[in-house]
Amino acid sequence: MKSKNIIPHSFHVDRQKREELNRHPSFLIWFTGLSGSGKSTIASRLEEELYLKGFHTYILDGDNIRNGLNSDLNFTEPGRKENIRRIGEVAKLFTDAGTIVLASFISPYRSERKFVRELVGKDRFFEVFVDCPVEECELRDVKGLYKKARAGEIANFTGISSPYEIPLNPDIVINTQISDVESSVQKLIALIEQRFDVNA
Ligand code: ADX
Repeated sequence: MKSKNIIPHSFHVDRQKREELNRHPSFLIWFTGLSGSGKSTIASRLEEELYLKGFHTYILDGDNIRNGLNSDLNFTEPGRKENIRRIGEVAKLFTDAGTIVLASFISPYRSERKFVRELVGKDRFFEVFVDCPVEECELRDVKGLYKKARAGEIANFTGISSPYEIPLNPDIVINTQISDVESSVQKLIALIEQRFDVNA
């Protein structure tokens, strides 16, 4: 619960000034999808492209953030919801700071993705659904976690014993069974250029 006695301060150097200094807008690209669907791989390649064009970027990634800031959270429904709430707040700070944020989280609940969209502002938010059937993610099993989940060694595993709510109205769907990493990155750059005059 927020205290009633908190009065936010407006500072003189604001997001707009930072955007002018950086010479590009700041926004949030939110990758959602199953574990192993390809979110982090695409985010990483997209970041490289943006970096090469001189943009200020930062990646927030599930496994990394859960190692530090969110190391106290588990994979129950409340744990995941709190995970995304905090990441949403962090992403808002980063975009306020003028950075282009690429966030890669399973983020299985529509309500939390909607929360982040509204927090950051829909004009600055792209929802990218990294679509890959659970059967394919399980075949890939890059981290060996599906095997463990099937063996009952991991509880609440997304797609096996925990739900994933498919985005109903994402800004873009990337099917990683069909689209390779490079063409996925090009589609995302085109999407960014459609909305912002960034000459990305
Ligand atoms: S989220 O559901 O809260 O958004 P997040 O993206 O932060 O998840 O973390 C997912 C990563 O944690 C997966 O890529 C996987 O490596 C690891 N992980 C560990 N346990 C689980 C689990 N029960 N369900 C899903 N991913 C898990």
